[in-house]
Amino acid sequence: MAVEKVKTGIPGLDKALEGGIPKNNVVLVSGGAGTGKSTLCMQYLINGAKLFGEKGLYISTEQKRKELIKAGTNFGWDIEGLEQKNLLKIEYFDVVQSDNALEKIYDLYTAFTPKRIVLDSLTTFTDSLLVSGMREDTAFSMVQVAESVSPIPRTEKVVAKSLLYHLMNKIRLFDATVMLTTELPEKSNFLSADNISEFICDGVIALYYLGVGSVENRSMIIRKMRYTSHEKKSILYEIGSNGIHLIKEEEYKI
Ligand SMILES: Nc1ncnc2c1ncn2[C@@H]1O[C@H](COP(=O)(O)OP(=O)(O)OP(=O)(O)O)[C@@H](O)[C@H]1O
Ligand SMILES: [Mg+2]
Repeated sequence: MAVEKVKTGIPGLDKALEGGIPKNNVVLVSGGAGTGKSTLCMQYLINGAKLFGEKGLYISTEQKRKELIKAGTNFGWDIEGLEQKNLLKIEYFDVVQSDNALEKIYDLYTAFTPKRIVLDSLTTFTDSLLVSGMREDTAFSMVQVAESVSPIPRTEKVVAKSLLYHLMNKIRLFDATVMLTTELPEKSNFLSADNISEFICDGVIALYYLGVGSVENRSMIIRKMRYTSHEKKSILYEIGSNGIHLIKEEEYKI
């Protein structure tokens, strides 16, 4: 039986993914500042709602609701309209203040039952969990988890790794196809800020920006996508007035 695919609706990308993202995959969208991570993720939810009537949940730890609506308006997306139709939900998490963030996500999921979930960004989210886990009074303490399962000294890396596994196990309980964003420094050889997530996630789409003179040069690489074949070469893309589209869109037409 063929693997069921979830279409991003982003012009060209589904062809490059041989039909879309395998259903319930957890995909990392990594890239430097301004490469279009948030745009790609929001477009994935907007298309899911508009083209397929699928509910999308956008958990933001960076841009607030108002800012995301503004960014959407810039691309002609009626975020509030889709929210009113119960097809989209934007939740802003103040990482400094939110304790039990994982439990809150779980509650949101069960109440809204989205088919598509975005966590923007994984980096800020896990950093906040790490910080809250270090406070004695929180119910969710990953530091303790790391200590109890591992004889390895409790270094920051061990704690972060344990926390990411824990987070990923929770996310995998959802019947949803998930995108997580991670920030990368411009000349990084890694695929995520923590250098662990790319191994745990089912897929990695890496976005790059290479400005040469006045020419804007954006490219993406589907670095990994479990359960499907996909384009392996670097693919040029643009951010235009309707969001992201692949430049050789025709070539990538289904
Ligand atoms: N209407 C538009 N036309 C063309 N390009 C646009 C338009 N609107 C936004 N952009 C481009 O999209 C970029 C913002 O993309 P986005 O916020 O999705 O990036 P990001 O990778 O999430 O960034 P960050 O690292 O700040 O979170 C802008 O820097 C700009 O270059
Ligand atoms: Mg962003």
